[in-house]
Amino acid sequence: MTLTNRSIDTPPRAPSPVHNFGTLAVHAGSPHDPVTGAVIEPVGYPKSLRMRDNFEKAIAALEHARFSLAFASGSATTAVILQSLAAGSHVVSVSDVYGGTHRYFTKVAAAHGVQVTFSPSIEISVAELIRPNETKLIWIESPSNPTLSLVDIRAVATIAHQHGIMVVVDNTFLSPYIQNPLDHGADIVVHSVTKYINGHSDVLMGAAAFNSPELYERLVFLQNAIGAVPSPFDCWLAHRGLKTLHLRAREASNNALIVARTLSASPHVISVNYPGLSSHPQHHIALKQHRAGLGGGMLSFRIKGGMAAAERFCQSTQIFTLAESLGGVESLVEVPGSMTHAGIPKEEREAAGVFEDLVRVSCGVEDGDDLRKDVLRGLERAVVHGKINGFQENGSTRTADHQA
Ligand SMILES: Cc1ncc(COP(=O)(O)O)c(C=O)c1O
Repeated sequence: MTLTNRSIDTPPRAPSPVHNFGTLAVHAGSPHDPVTGAVIEPVGYPKSLRMRDNFEKAIAALEHARFSLAFASGSATTAVILQSLAAGSHVVSVSDVYGGTHRYFTKVAAAHGVQVTFSPSIEISVAELIRPNETKLIWIESPSNPTLSLVDIRAVATIAHQHGIMVVVDNTFLSPYIQNPLDHGADIVVHSVTKYINGHSDVLMGAAAFNSPELYERLVFLQNAIGAVPSPFDCWLAHRGLKTLHLRAREASNNALIVARTLSASPHVISVNYPGLSSHPQHHIALKQHRAGLGGGMLSFRIKGGMAAAERFCQSTQIFTLAESLGGVESLVEVPGSMTHAGIPKEEREAAGVFEDLVRVSCGVEDGDDLRKDVLRGLERAVVHGKINGFQENGSTRTADHQA
């Protein structure tokens, strides 16, 4: 038997929980092509469902789950889970969820008879917000978007399970490399695959992972019935991205720590939200819930000079690009108050800490020192030059004669 034949005949090495993250990321759901012996099955394989199956197996392995399902987007994943609830159901959610999730909860779920109550401090208030026989789901984002506050998943899950309620955690911001919510008592973990898992800002996809066979039956039926499925090519691309997730997530996290420290030391910054800083009010949760206490690649900060300074900062950086998405290899910045979270009423937004001067940063994998210098240059231009050029704190410029 030739070496080539042997590699075709031998079953693919099955990754198992004895393997660590990097090995699973590269090998889980990646059988060698039984026809040609290729190390990676070619996209367009006759059974194109294979691409989705392979991707789903990889996500299940990385999230320590029995099952995983892939969807056409993170929002489609949210929609399918909400759709699985009967009319009359009630959901308790953290307040500062992703703007699109908030929109779905308030504008779409409500229309099919599902009510959502938002809580700014879910660990404290969950017990009193639960409605006997009505509350079916608790929705957590940890860290939350865009204020990066953390939720103790185990604490919430313990209360939820006493009432037979399922806990969903949106793990988009950390990726399975940094946090595995099922290990902390969650029943379903969801991802916008569009972000860290794909990692290259060129695919729109979502995924859910869980252990319950009954849940699998319900969600796989809706995945098919609603048709919110990803294309084979997107599954193939996202799976390719996932193979380097551990490298990217580590680098993004290291870069975010550099940026967070730079911002914290600046006189132009009011406050920094980053769970990897020991000054973060829930840093102890990061130490308990995140791999090696890593803070992830996302952070946000309040800049001096109001929304105008926030917007100027985002236009002044040279490496950080002004854009709404996150989790890619390239660093991005945005102003949630006028962009991702503009749809949430101002009072509600500010109650959740999303002020107009808040800038959200997604650190990519560029050189950390270049990112540090870019942040310093952005602050200087936004705050110091802004004052010299006559910008007011409320975002408008002074009258034309001042500018002349
Ligand atoms: C935390 C979080 N969840 C879900 C989504 C929705 O994902 P998608 O853009 O893939 O629909 C996003 C998108 O920004 C997000 O940030």
